[in-house]
Amino acid sequence: MAGKGKSGSTAGKGPGATKGATKEAAKSGVPQKGFLQGLANYGDADFSIYMRRAFARSQGFSMDELSRPVVGIANTYSRFNPCHRHFPELVDAIKRGVASAGGLALEFPTISLHESTLTPNSMKFRNLMAMDTEEMIRAQPMDSVVLMGGCDKTVPAQLMGAASANKPAIQLIGGPQMTGRWREHRVGACTDCRKFWMEYRAGRMGKTEIEEAEGRLVTTAGTCAVMGTASTMAAIAEALGMTLPGTAAIPAVHADRIRAAEATGVQAVALARGELTPSKIITQKSIENAARVLLALGGSTNGVVHLAAIAGRVGAKLDLQRFNELSDTTPVLAAVKPVGNEHYMEDFFAAGGIGAVLRELKDRLNLDCMTITGETLGERLAAEEGIWVDRRVIKSIEEPIEPQGGLVALFGSLAPKGAIIKRSAATPALFERTGRAVVFTSLADLSERIDAPDLDVTADDFLVLQNAGPSSPAGMPEAGFLPIPKKLLAAGVKDMVRISDARMSGTAYGTIVLHVAPEAAAGGPLALVRTGDKIKLSVKNRTIDLLVDEAELAKRRRVWEQEKKPTAPRGYDRLFRERVLQAPEGCDFDFLAPEA
Ligand code: FES
Repeated sequence: MAGKGKSGSTAGKGPGATKGATKEAAKSGVPQKGFLQGLANYGDADFSIYMRRAFARSQGFSMDELSRPVVGIANTYSRFNPCHRHFPELVDAIKRGVASAGGLALEFPTISLHESTLTPNSMKFRNLMAMDTEEMIRAQPMDSVVLMGGCDKTVPAQLMGAASANKPAIQLIGGPQMTGRWREHRVGACTDCRKFWMEYRAGRMGKTEIEEAEGRLVTTAGTCAVMGTASTMAAIAEALGMTLPGTAAIPAVHADRIRAAEATGVQAVALARGELTPSKIITQKSIENAARVLLALGGSTNGVVHLAAIAGRVGAKLDLQRFNELSDTTPVLAAVKPVGNEHYMEDFFAAGGIGAVLRELKDRLNLDCMTITGETLGERLAAEEGIWVDRRVIKSIEEPIEPQGGLVALFGSLAPKGAIIKRSAATPALFERTGRAVVFTSLADLSERIDAPDLDVTADDFLVLQNAGPSSPAGMPEAGFLPIPKKLLAAGVKDMVRISDARMSGTAYGTIVLHVAPEAAAGGPLALVRTGDKIKLSVKNRTIDLLVDEAELAKRRRVWEQEKKPTAPRGYDRLFRERVLQAPEGCDFDFLAPEA
């Protein structure tokens, strides 16, 4: 079998190798490669090897198999995660690829996160999954690892964990869903989910219709069918160089997805035999490439938080001022919902996928960045010159959808450390405004009062939500898409300025200012806003200011200090709330930065 015994494994080959391997382990300490690396510590290395092999043999492995390069497969299949329901088929294909290249594939489970089946929200568990992934890569004997991710938080969690573990790693993306049909509409999660819900709330859709639509929105395996967080993070993984070229956008149920899984298994064996670790691929330069792709896609605002967290794991940075410079020089190229109102991820894949976007951006990219294949990004793109692109979906750099990036960071007295607005999915008429704040102090307050007939609100007001940031009890949910009050919806209002320290689904849209930092729960100025205050927004100037004088703010701050609540009493909730960083730093835990 190709490459067998060339892995650097110290386990030897075949049954006769046992004695040699034991001697070698005894002579040189812990083997560095193969199934015998990283021994369980019983105080006797030979005993550790003997025990490990005894249990491995109980699984039916031959000594020949145990001598091969070991490829771990971090499998995030879970019945709580509908987006990953096709993973068993992909695992089979990865294993086929690993075996054909002479490796030993050992699959292992990690935490899996799905957006709608976790409380209070999936973001709360991204760091836990990243820690699980990192520690299992480090603790188990593998020479490389395939990271199987898809649903929103799974890909960043795996990249964060793999970057910290720094063993050779390759990402296999699960891929997006295909669209479905409801009546005459082509539909896909979850931009259409939100549109229908807004129609239902406005009374323009009845109960029967909304229930019918619910059964048609998600009809295949895979991640959301639009350029939401999952597809944005898949694109980021490919732009970073952590996936095989051209694989990020393949639909989940497409045969190419299975072929990509097999090829990923083959590449994982090549990685297992070498030294190409994530720290050689995820660098300051490749982080900036990924940020450009995020901007050109008009991708999810969540991508900014996750990319900052990935950067933080390798000692790089996604500085929001630098992000604005990148945004000013990166046009929006992809007409995929929620940008535009027509195309879905399956169209984007057929149109040319991430490769087509990268080729348009190539004069702005750091082409010397290394990728998982051992080629630089420049070499990859040179080999793809001339491939057909559907310009209805992926625009050329000469004729972009927008001349500047889809996302922009705002700074000012309301957000001294920054906030994010997705201008490509917002209403330009609302960009330069001063509005009266209508404040909700928590998610519970929001849900209790937003539809109250006597709520004092007009379409020109700014809705403000407090205490939905990372260290709040809510744990930074995707609640930044504040519902428009029913009475305004019924009057035909489709958008208004909304401001919070929460996140927003990548599938959502509107003039929505998110990730305000520092957050309210950490004592940021957002905590001091009161209904009736004036807030000035200027997307052109990248500013968001609270127009309240200093003396009044100081008075409010004293009250806030007195009323400050303690964090959670115990467990992961306490760890999270006490150690989570703010949004511009990726909401990672402060103790997970690399050692200086
Ligand atoms: Fe899994 Fe949208 S819920 S990707």
